[in-house]
Amino acid sequence: MSEYERWERRYDAPRYIFGEEPNAFLASCESMLPDHGTALAVADGEGRNGVWLSRKGLTVTSVDFSPTGQQKARALARNHGVNVTLIQADLHNWTASPETFDVAVDIFTQFSDPDQRQARWDNLKHALKHGGLLILAGYTPKQLDYGTGGPKVFERFYTRGLLTDVFGDFHQLVITESEVEMSEGSDHTGMSAIITLTGFKP
Ligand SMILES: C[S@@+](CC[C@H](N)C(=O)[O-])C[C@H]1O[C@@H](n2cnc3c(N)ncnc32)[C@H](O)[C@@H]1O
Repeated sequence: MSEYERWERRYDAPRYIFGEEPNAFLASCESMLPDHGTALAVADGEGRNGVWLSRKGLTVTSVDFSPTGQQKARALARNHGVNVTLIQADLHNWTASPETFDVAVDIFTQFSDPDQRQARWDNLKHALKHGGLLILAGYTPKQLDYGTGGPKVFERFYTRGLLTDVFGDFHQLVITESEVEMSEGSDHTGMSAIITLTGFKP
């Protein structure tokens, strides 16, 4: 089964499999957000993060390749009375307009091989305005011990070294590794080994 089919099947459920509330790390970054401006949420799935950013006053573009996920994102936005621009695209073939976004959010997007990931992150960097905020979260290799979600392929995990190599030039860069009890929908629950990053594009 292709990745596309796998996600279509996963999202073909009445519930929001990662919940309707934003990722806990993203929510913890609320005070860093500008009170208006533009935000890009990549691989935004059922829209919990993009919709929350819109609720915070940002003009949001949400990209994912799953139409079923995006149908749920559309319904979530409607329930909250906000607008989100949904773009259905394969992020391995999608190019954002350069220097467009004040905020970019990359939460649990570990579906790319290293070359594809580098290209995606280059694209994300180009898409941010100078001074724009990047908020990123993913799993570290320790997540293999927990088995509570995340990639199954070792090269797709993030380490401090990897994130520093790619985003080391960002201002006020903060990278944090932690082991936390997650409770984000039915499919992100239990002890998890997480790495998070915030920083501003130079
Ligand atoms: C673990 S989910 C995370 C969803 C969302 N970021 C969240 O935190 O709720 C990974 C997402 O990546 C999307 N995805 C996987 N491969 C993709 C690709 N090549 N292009 C676009 N989206 C993709 C899936 O459809 C899914 O929504």
